[in-house]
Amino acid sequence: MKDIFIRNRNIVIGFIYRTILKRIFFAADPEDVHDAMTQVGVFLGNYAITRALTKSLFAYADPILEQNVAGIRFANPVGLAAGFDKDGVLTDIIGAVGFGFTEIGSITGNACKGNTRPRLWRMKKSKGLIVYYGLKNSGCAAIAHRLTQKQFRTPLGTSIAMTNDSTTATQEAGIADYAKAFSAFATIGDYFTINISCPNTCMGEPFVEPGALDALLTRIDAIQTKKPIFLKLSADLTDVQIDAIIVVAKQHRVHGFICTNLTKNRENKHIKDKNIPAYGGMSGKVVRDRSNIMIGHIYKKTNGAYCIIGCGGIFSAHDAYEKIKQGASLVQLITGMIFEGPQLIGEINQGLKTLLMRDGLTTITEATGVNHRAI
Ligand SMILES: Cc1cc2nc3c(=O)[nH]c(=O)nc-3n(C[C@H](O)[C@H](O)[C@H](O)COP(=O)(O)O)c2cc1C
Repeated sequence: MKDIFIRNRNIVIGFIYRTILKRIFFAADPEDVHDAMTQVGVFLGNYAITRALTKSLFAYADPILEQNVAGIRFANPVGLAAGFDKDGVLTDIIGAVGFGFTEIGSITGNACKGNTRPRLWRMKKSKGLIVYYGLKNSGCAAIAHRLTQKQFRTPLGTSIAMTNDSTTATQEAGIADYAKAFSAFATIGDYFTINISCPNTCMGEPFVEPGALDALLTRIDAIQTKKPIFLKLSADLTDVQIDAIIVVAKQHRVHGFICTNLTKNRENKHIKDKNIPAYGGMSGKVVRDRSNIMIGHIYKKTNGAYCIIGCGGIFSAHDAYEKIKQGASLVQLITGMIFEGPQLIGEINQGLKTLLMRDGLTTITEATGVNHRAI
């Protein structure tokens, strides 16, 4: 009965979103819409009554979706990816929208204005976004100060990156910048992500190189924290680069990988829009297949030893389930929610329950990596 009600609720809200709200939003500048929606989210998160109302409109819960990953209890496997809540102002409303966890940031050592606008575009035909923010955020000190005494309603990841300006020009300065942000969040939230894959910085992605990554992780190992650590990888890495990163990760305190960040590859066959900007990383359906391939590659290469968070182009429960079957324990999204509406989170969770039951599975853990092992 509850499931029938929620299915119909999601159909109605999704219809209203796609036929009315999305048309209004998509007629305006994407960054303006994002900033306005962030303000709405902050307001809704401030009061018990607005949180309860939001929950009744969007959330879906079922014990089959619960799991322990890297020592953290998740009510469901669908998280908000880094980049939507850069300054960690939405933590009170995320659970009510239906997410099982959230990742704030990416947060850098110093405050960072990011690249000049425009820096966000929609690829309407391809169902993706082009992102050229360049790590805009208020910096680790201000954000940590605001969040330090806060009780979070859902598990919280902190994505750490390197300040996007000339102060991080040398490897030493870059590592010091990561370490500064990492230390500021050592006791805040539930897990860390080290973002070594921002496609939009003036310094490029220097910590993809094994020697540099080894030096960075050696410095991170020295910082006291109980929180598990994930490495967020670019969608544009070759298998050789991925394998080299795994070798380095094995020597350090790394618990898992996030596959993937954005892609810069303009040759991608899923790009259907014409005249897109030559710079910036692409999200959504453009990156979906590459993300799935990388999840499978890492799962097989490490025999499932690492927790994988699958990210990129999730627009449905089937998309999320494919990432889980490839080897992901958790998934994250942004772009699907923007194109389909916030009811998508509940839809995915409900759909995952149906897919697990169809396949005779009783937990997400049983489905993780099932494409690569006999059950
Ligand atoms: C507007 C926007 C900003 C982003 N900023 C960040 C960021 O600061 N750090 C990061 O690790 N990933 C960032 N990403 C990448 C996302 O976390 C995610 O990896 C990517 O968008 C693929 O997921 P999706 O197809 O569900 O959007 C950003 C993505 C978008 C759309």
